[in-house]
Amino acid sequence: MNVIVFGGCGFIGSHLVDALRSQGHNVCVFDRNYELFRLPLPDVEYVIGDFGNRGLVSSAVKDIDVVFHLISTTVPKTSNDDPAFDVSSNVIETLCLLDVCVREKVKKVVFVSSGGTVYGIPNTLPINEDHPTNPICSYGISKLAIEKYLFLFRRLHDLDFTVIRPSNPYGPRQNPKNIQGSVSVFLGNILEGHPITIWGDGSVSRDFVYIRDLIDGIVKAAFLKTEHRVFNIGSGVGTTLTNVLELIRVVTKSDPAVIHTGNRSFDVSELVLDTRLAQRELGWAPQTPFLQGLYETWNAMLDHEQYKKVGV
Ligand SMILES: NC(=O)c1ccc[n+]([C@@H]2O[C@H](COP(=O)([O-])OP(=O)(O)OC[C@H]3O[C@@H](n4cnc5c(N)ncnc54)[C@H](O)[C@@H]3O)[C@@H](O)[C@H]2O)c1
Repeated sequence: MNVIVFGGCGFIGSHLVDALRSQGHNVCVFDRNYELFRLPLPDVEYVIGDFGNRGLVSSAVKDIDVVFHLISTTVPKTSNDDPAFDVSSNVIETLCLLDVCVREKVKKVVFVSSGGTVYGIPNTLPINEDHPTNPICSYGISKLAIEKYLFLFRRLHDLDFTVIRPSNPYGPRQNPKNIQGSVSVFLGNILEGHPITIWGDGSVSRDFVYIRDLIDGIVKAAFLKTEHRVFNIGSGVGTTLTNVLELIRVVTKSDPAVIHTGNRSFDVSELVLDTRLAQRELGWAPQTPFLQGLYETWNAMLDHEQYKKVGV
């Protein structure tokens, strides 16, 4: 099939591109930058430009069967700094992309939403897909709005779609200089000999899913036949930041200094996703124990010359 990955040069996108190539698809990538950690791949077509360039987006989607949408112009923290930018650059530009998909008769849109933010403060754990959605950051509201528009476009224009709500992915090629992705940020701090900053007392708990498991879930949800449209993908296990630090000490054989700061207003204190729907409908299951994923991530960081390029 002809597929395009919007945001295909980012962390999740670059691994998705690999999986799609290995399945024999013709892969095009739309991104504003090339990959940070690898040279451009010879069998991938790159369209380099901004998601807001509607002419370029429109021409990139010609003859495409499946559109994977992984662009986000914000992360939870930055989205609250400027919600108007968050909505215009994510929700409005996605609506333009969906119009193009209808016009070009795209068979399916796969949207990577956010299991960590669309639900808001959990009533129950683990959180299943039917849990109420009351986001406490603009990023989560925009992700949810896009999900709702996907339902609307299906109703109005018969545009098929799948939504993936990942928990907290980690793994090689996650930029340790970003503000999202605590595992990579912590490992990057250790590589540089810097202290690790933890928000709150370390009791905040997250559902860390290894990138290979997330990609397996995205690909299965994209190509397997199912009546369901929205899937949580996570490890199903909650790990506190204090536990993450303990495991990171073991993996890196180091004992970094730790600085505690205040809690962040846009964070929920606990997050664990219920992934039984994906397990039942897609025959998917997370395969990578956290410790193994940490070793793989750390070893990739140690091995990879390219990490030096981003100043780590
Ligand atoms: N990493 C996480 O913790 C996480 C968790 C849940 C959901 N997600 C979602 O998954 C998707 C991918 O996340 P990621 O971690 O790979 O992020 P990333 O920042 O590594 O990748 C995003 C890519 O989008 C590109 N991009 C951003 N704005 C653009 C624009 N205006 N025009 C063109 N390209 C643009 C970036 O250049 C980057 O390559 C995002 O939609 C994100 O919201 C991420």
